[in-house]
Amino acid sequence: MTSSRTWTTRPEAPGDAAAIHAINAAAFPTAAEADLVDALRADRDAWIPGLSLVAQAPDGTLVAHALLTRCHVAGRPALALAPCAVLPEYQGQGAGSAAVTAALDAARTAGERLVLVLGHADYYPRFGFVPASRWGIRAPFEVPDEAMMALVLDAVGPVPSGVIQYSSPFGS
Ligand SMILES: CC(C)(COP(=O)(O)OP(=O)(O)OC[C@H]1O[C@@H](n2cnc3c(N)ncnc32)[C@H](O)[C@@H]1OP(=O)(O)O)[C@@H](O)C(=O)NCCC(=O)NCCS
Repeated sequence: MTSSRTWTTRPEAPGDAAAIHAINAAAFPTAAEADLVDALRADRDAWIPGLSLVAQAPDGTLVAHALLTRCHVAGRPALALAPCAVLPEYQGQGAGSAAVTAALDAARTAGERLVLVLGHADYYPRFGFVPASRWGIRAPFEVPDEAMMALVLDAVGPVPSGVIQYSSPFGS
C-alpha cells in the first residue's frame, strides 16, 4: 500500500469489483468501460492479479481505478493500460495519477517490460509515455499517432515492434 498526501493506492481486493464498476460507469459517458473491466477480470488470458489498482480517499472511499491487462506486440507480451477512471467529483486532484503510478510501479515490480495506452496525449506523457510509433508499435485500428503511446519499463533488450494484439474483451 502506498500513500500520497491524499490518496492511498493498493491492488484491487476481493469485494472491490462493484466499487470499481461504479467508478468506471461514472467516469465515462456509458457503461462500456465498466463492463469491459468486468469482462477483462473474467478473462484468464488478460487478467493479471495485482495489476488492477485503486486509489482511496482518507475516508476509505474508492475514487480512482487504473487497470493493466495482458496484450501482445508481434506475439511478445506487453500490457494495455485501460481503462483509467476517477469519480467525477474527485477528478483533477491527483487521484488518477496516483492510481496510474501505482499500476506502473506494480508492473515494473512484476518484471513487465512494456505498457501501451490509447488516450489523451496531454495526460500520459507525464508518466513517461511516448508515441508508440517511436518504437514501431501500431494499433490494430486507425488512431491519431499521438494518442497511441508506449512506456518501456525495462530498457534492457530489444523492444518489440509491430501491431498490438489486444485481448478478446477489447473486441479487436
Ligand atoms: C483522465 C483521468 C483518469 C485523470 O485523472 P485525474 O485524477 O482527474 O487527473 P490528475 O488529478 O491525476 O491529473 C490532473 C491532470 O490531468 C489532466 N486531465 C484530466 N482529465 C484529462 C483529460 N480528459 N484529457 C487530458 N488531460 C486531462 C488535467 O488537465 C491535469 O493536468 P495538469 O496536471 O497539467 O494540470 C480522469 O479525469 C477521468 O477519469 N476522466 C474521465 C475518464 C477518462 O477520460 N479516462 C481516461 C481515458 S484515456
